[in-house]
Amino acid sequence: MGWLGFEERRTLVIGAGGLGTACARALAEAGARLAVVDADEGRLKVLRDDPALAAADVRTLTADLTSSDACEQAVTTAARELGGLDVLVHAVGTNDRRPVVDTPDEVWDRILTLNLSSAFWTGRAAGRFMREAGHGSMVFFSSVSSRLAHRHHAPYAASKGGLDQLVKVMAREWAADGVTVNAVAPGYTETELTRAYLDKPGMREEMTSLVPAGRLGTPQDVVGAVLFLASARASFVTGQVLYVDGGRTLV
Ligand SMILES: NC(=O)c1ccc[n+]([C@@H]2O[C@H](COP(=O)([O-])OP(=O)(O)OC[C@H]3O[C@@H](n4cnc5c(N)ncnc54)[C@H](O)[C@@H]3O)[C@@H](O)[C@H]2O)c1
Repeated sequence: MGWLGFEERRTLVIGAGGLGTACARALAEAGARLAVVDADEGRLKVLRDDPALAAADVRTLTADLTSSDACEQAVTTAARELGGLDVLVHAVGTNDRRPVVDTPDEVWDRILTLNLSSAFWTGRAAGRFMREAGHGSMVFFSSVSSRLAHRHHAPYAASKGGLDQLVKVMAREWAADGVTVNAVAPGYTETELTRAYLDKPGMREEMTSLVPAGRLGTPQDVVGAVLFLASARASFVTGQVLYVDGGRTLV
């Protein structure tokens, strides 16, 4: 058994983007059995075809997680296919950067639904399985935007601030059932979510200059924090938001 104890742990990763994929690979390497959900079948195929994931016997589910029913069904299907659910990693999210006065309702609703409501819906569904089993670990992706007032990030920041509180309340309600709920909050990390923004003239340099560590994050940077919080080693850690940001929130 490895130090983190992931062997045979039945793990659902929600999101096969930059950060979800990095987590899925690391969890597979640590011995977890995996189901991965995403709306984009192409991203799921990349995971299925990845030789590094062959031993994890990864199951993939294509689902648009913008409704309560879809989220319930994704969690229930994954738990059925895996034979139970020990770990949930929620790593879907979206952003659309605009000033508050230029943010239409549709953008507000879309971001809040995917970033916050899908966390509530999938967390609630996973919580039912885990409480009944008497154990489980959940890790959600927050962001430095949950704490910092970045311009042009109103719905995104509101969704992540809301997520931090959702995590704390779920953690409190389920602590006595052996279920931990935590969040990892990265700073700017190069993935599809941030690439177009960082590619704007001067933006990568400006964002980097705000990070005491002197660089932006990589998906690999978040993996250790996620695996620790999802592992049995963190069984007495709950309701925490762990910033993985090179010191961005210190300044
Ligand atoms: N990349 C960063 O800099 C950064 C920083 C802080 C927090 N985060 C958070 O980390 C999480 C993962 O971000 P990422 O960088 O991997 O993003 P990403 O854009 O690389 O991946 C997001 C994934 O979500 C999927 N998705 C989008 N809409 C969906 C829907 N309706 N139903 C199901 N799946 C859907 C996409 O297909 C994609 O695979 C998000 O919650 C994000 O807010 C990212």
